[in-house]
Amino acid sequence: MARARFVAGNWKMHGNLAQNQSLLEMVISGIRTLQDVSCAVCVPYPYISQAQLMLKGSHLAWGAQNVSQYHQGAYTGEVSADMLADLGCQYVIVGHSERRTLFGETDQVVAEKFRAALGRSLMPILCVGETLAQREQDETEKIIARQLDVVINLAGIDAFKESVVAYEPIWAIGTGKTATPHQAQEVHAYIRNRIAVHDRKIAENIQILYGGSVKASNARELFEMPDIDGGLIGGASLVAAEFVSICLAAQS
Ligand code: 13P
Repeated sequence: MARARFVAGNWKMHGNLAQNQSLLEMVISGIRTLQDVSCAVCVPYPYISQAQLMLKGSHLAWGAQNVSQYHQGAYTGEVSADMLADLGCQYVIVGHSERRTLFGETDQVVAEKFRAALGRSLMPILCVGETLAQREQDETEKIIARQLDVVINLAGIDAFKESVVAYEPIWAIGTGKTATPHQAQEVHAYIRNRIAVHDRKIAENIQILYGGSVKASNARELFEMPDIDGGLIGGASLVAAEFVSICLAAQS
């Protein structure tokens, strides 16, 4: 049986109340008749209550872009999985390359965040991906394996029943340089096989999203690849018509 498709927007640090309102209204209406594709937007923390109110009863789910690895306590500036769950959060991005490179999140911290999210019934979207230098040195698989293995070792393979993986090659993020469908498919198949070593059924069922300069114009050819189950969309998720077209492209 084919896996269901999933398209998630990652707004990153963009938006304001007025812009978000019109963007969400247009996306909600644009995906109204969509079938067999789940859609979500991962919004900045201050706009979570806006998303929660506006998306109630719609086909659009919402998530957060980060979560603390800690549950509670003296961690100024952090937001726990409990707090997100309290507001009805469904998804949380963990290990985005911007968190890893700009905010020093190690594989171990990412794994702890992944586990913290799952412990509160949030669906983590675990991001993995290599830099351009690593790709050029033929290290893509080694890097992806390390990023995955630390999470598998800490959280256990069963945790992947309730999670999503996103392959986001760092050289393709925000650069306009998309991985070709073939390049992406190769890494997606590698990720699935790496999970299958532990559990074939989980590997068959897990959704693996592609992220990195996905646009309405290239989404369909990416989503046609057998191991690409949808997308994690940055820039194009801020433009309603683009995001809606990408969601429609995921419909088989
Ligand atoms: P872009 O779609 O802007 O390249 O960003 C991808 C991304 O980082 C999504 O998390």
